[in-house]
Amino acid sequence: MKQILVTGGTGYIGSHTAVELQNAGFEVIIVDNLSNSSLEVLDGIEKISGIRPAFEQFDLVEADKVDAFFAKYPNIEAIIHFAASKAVGESVEKPLLYYRNNLVSLINLLECQLKYGVSNIVFSSSCTVYGQPDELPVTENTPRKDAESPYGNTKKVNEDILKDTIAANPAIKGIALRYFNPVGAHPSALIGELPLGVPANLVPFITQTAAGLRGELKVFGNDYDTIDGSAVRDYINVVDLAKAHVIAVERLIYNKNENGYEIFNLGTGQGVSVLEMVHAFQMATAVKLNYKIVDRRAGDIEKIWADTTLANEELGWKAETGLEETLLSAWNWEKRVRGME
Ligand code: UD1
Repeated sequence: MKQILVTGGTGYIGSHTAVELQNAGFEVIIVDNLSNSSLEVLDGIEKISGIRPAFEQFDLVEADKVDAFFAKYPNIEAIIHFAASKAVGESVEKPLLYYRNNLVSLINLLECQLKYGVSNIVFSSSCTVYGQPDELPVTENTPRKDAESPYGNTKKVNEDILKDTIAANPAIKGIALRYFNPVGAHPSALIGELPLGVPANLVPFITQTAAGLRGELKVFGNDYDTIDGSAVRDYINVVDLAKAHVIAVERLIYNKNENGYEIFNLGTGQGVSVLEMVHAFQMATAVKLNYKIVDRRAGDIEKIWADTTLANEELGWKAETGLEETLLSAWNWEKRVRGME
């Protein structure tokens, strides 16, 4: 069985990807420092897929530990690198923490790829690299803009680190996947998104409000130039997103890519407003959501959605799950976490 290292594999997108990799016949080894996830996630992965992935707990910023890991696992065929700090607000307050965590961990992995002959890496990037684009939808060729936050800048710089390293070392091939807004949970409700503290992201805030943990959802702004004045995003189901990683890994391992470094947008291609999300959640779950319109959130962009043609045609991947089904999965997960069933 081909071994895949999944960094950040107990996290939200990582855990869903570990399941899909195992379902596709790959052997998964997870590395995570558990800074924003817990070991119980391994139970969920095991219950869904019937296999408990190997797990190593350490921090990827520690170069000696990364090196010892690759010495211990000499047969890894590809890396999917999710592990990163991802709280936008925190990154503004602690830029050095974000630059150290996110940049150094990728550098350590790439150095070990060269040393140990690991050819393939898939990197978790984000549509945040586009900022507020001048034209919609965004293609992979849409120019990147100055990042709005240190977090966003780490995604941009890491893309460049990857591109430059591959250009200098043809032995390495890589794919950067630019996620739009990942939402939802596994349909089993055994794994999902588990934010620490007050969620910054929309869907966890919606499900926690519906569960009674939060009094009301604040809709940040209704004076944007959009269908109903609220901001528009492209919300992609997390299981659909996870499946794209399996395809990306297979593309690298089986040499289906023509270029050493490739970039793909992963979204649905549909823009959905915050108020449309609220209504879709209520339709999907029959739960009424308290919300009120408040001022815009600093740093938010008005609207973005993906042109997914490249991923559709080159990867043969497309988003499949409908928005209501996705929101219902998020709600089922929230209810399970809160012991509401
Ligand atoms: C945010 C990050 C982005 C990161 C992504 C990861 C910011 C500015 N951007 O994107 O860099 O890659 O998460 O998932 O934080 N909203 C509300 N009320 C809420 C929460 C959100 O109205 O309580 C609105 C936001 O204003 C936005 C939309 O919902 O219009 C989506 O917000 P969110 O889930 O935080 O994602 P992004 O801001 O798109």
